[in-house]
Amino acid sequence: MDRGLIPEEIINRIRDRADIVEVISAHLSLSKTGQNFKGLCPFHAEKTPSFIVSPSRQMFHCFGCGEGGNIFTFLMKVEGSSFPTVVRNLGEKYGIRVEERSVSPEARQRAEQVDRLVELNKAAAEFFHKTLLKGQAASPARAYLKERGITPETIERFDIGYAPSSWDGALKALRSGGKQAKVGWTVEDLAAAGLIVARDQAGTKPGDASGYYDRFRGRVILPIRDLQKRVIGFGGRVLDDGVPKYLNSPETPLFRKGRALYGLEVAREGITREDQVVIVEGYFDAIALHQAGVTNVVATLGTALTSEHVEIIRRFTRRVVLLFDPDAAGVRAALRTLDLFLGSGLAVQVGSLPEGEDPDTFIRSRDPEAFTTLVRQAPSLLDFTVAGSLAIGLQGSVEDRVRCVEEVLALALLQKLSNPVEKAAALRHVADRLGMEEKVLVERYRQLTRNSPVADNGWSDASRGPVESAPLPKDEEVLVRLLLHGALASPMLALLAADDFTDSRARRLVALILERRDERGEGDWSR
Ligand code: UTP
Ligand code: MN
Repeated sequence: MDRGLIPEEIINRIRDRADIVEVISAHLSLSKTGQNFKGLCPFHAEKTPSFIVSPSRQMFHCFGCGEGGNIFTFLMKVEGSSFPTVVRNLGEKYGIRVEERSVSPEARQRAEQVDRLVELNKAAAEFFHKTLLKGQAASPARAYLKERGITPETIERFDIGYAPSSWDGALKALRSGGKQAKVGWTVEDLAAAGLIVARDQAGTKPGDASGYYDRFRGRVILPIRDLQKRVIGFGGRVLDDGVPKYLNSPETPLFRKGRALYGLEVAREGITREDQVVIVEGYFDAIALHQAGVTNVVATLGTALTSEHVEIIRRFTRRVVLLFDPDAAGVRAALRTLDLFLGSGLAVQVGSLPEGEDPDTFIRSRDPEAFTTLVRQAPSLLDFTVAGSLAIGLQGSVEDRVRCVEEVLALALLQKLSNPVEKAAALRHVADRLGMEEKVLVERYRQLTRNSPVADNGWSDASRGPVESAPLPKDEEVLVRLLLHGALASPMLALLAADDFTDSRARRLVALILERRDERGEGDWSR
């Protein structure tokens, strides 16, 4: 909750008062070594301590991963909190009042509204959770969770609940006068939190509950919490095969699907420890993996990954594992995320599960090692898309071929063009084909060739010499194979020249193919 600027003077007072050794000790064990303290770095995996804390300088530094900073940066990194939050928490701990500078009345009101939502969501989560554990009407839900293999510990850890199937269970319980309502929530509060829905917008008078009904009815409730463990929204699953299978809270000032990651507050420690995050698609995929002991897992909320998600993840780790099917839809989904991750500085791998399985079914029929192995062996996002595109290019529909192959190879090809004029023309062309702004593509291309993790996967020109006996560089091999199979559409062929290849065998082959194309005017090179 950013509520304005915190005066510099207060920040300095907190810095002076707080003891970095004490604060860091709450997160890892430190032992004294001379003037300083040392311990195992929380920001990368290590067996011998190279994480040093200096009480005199009130700084920390890790000689293993280079991470370093002061008490504020430590807490921001380890807790994933914002600077104001860290300052406020420290202020509370050390008895320093953190007052923000003048805040507009609107901002103040917004902040108050958010606080109210947080309180109400908390009360609602408690109501749903209690209902699941104790409610008579919840026995089908308890049976459902048991059937899915969810243990009582997991129900506690994820604060799973149940919304009764009546039309006004939550409404009655939470509204003023309700037995469990410590605070008298108004219908307006409940509606703002998305817990109740108006029957008919026009007909509802202020304070009149009769015009509203519960949003979540007869569903298992999964509270969605942020890093501060505040309940920001809910997901609800039907017990049978009713539709929709999942119902989620609407967007509120507190809840934005495009930045929420289910399970992050529980996964945080695991992510930091493994220095890796696994991103899955379903609530129960995340839950099942956690229950099986794979704890560096979060789930998106039925939406595509966004750049906001990427920014949040980056606070914890640079290593990301996504799970996609190796079929055409999966490759296309991977291609879409390629867009998001190129130049992000994150190393992304793609794991594929056996056909017809999701992480939940996978982990329930195997041991956790099987999943860890799958993750360990997952190819990089780029390798996955290239291999997938190749497979689809060779056997998919015409549409599949053109779409997948061109999008990946456009990027591969761009890296191969060394003549700046040619490159500029190619960028224009590719931007055009992908329906992107040229500016954006040029920027991405720069990042790609400069220092993205992609460059480490054998895609950079620098590491490659014209060694004849060695196998073809992977991208060249892919291109050659595509050419041979006629899987490259002519706009892409027009971008290609024999000189683009470092390997003389490839150069000869490509020259030959291009010659034949010129003779016939179009391409089927498989004959
Ligand atoms: P899936 O349809 O793949 O289901 O939805 P699942 O996660 O395997 O569900 P279970 O195992 O049958 O319980 C993946 C995710 O998409 C969102 C949810 O976040 C879900 O976890 N989703 C799905 C919705 O928001 N609404 C829906 O109706 C379906
Ligand atoms: Mn599932």
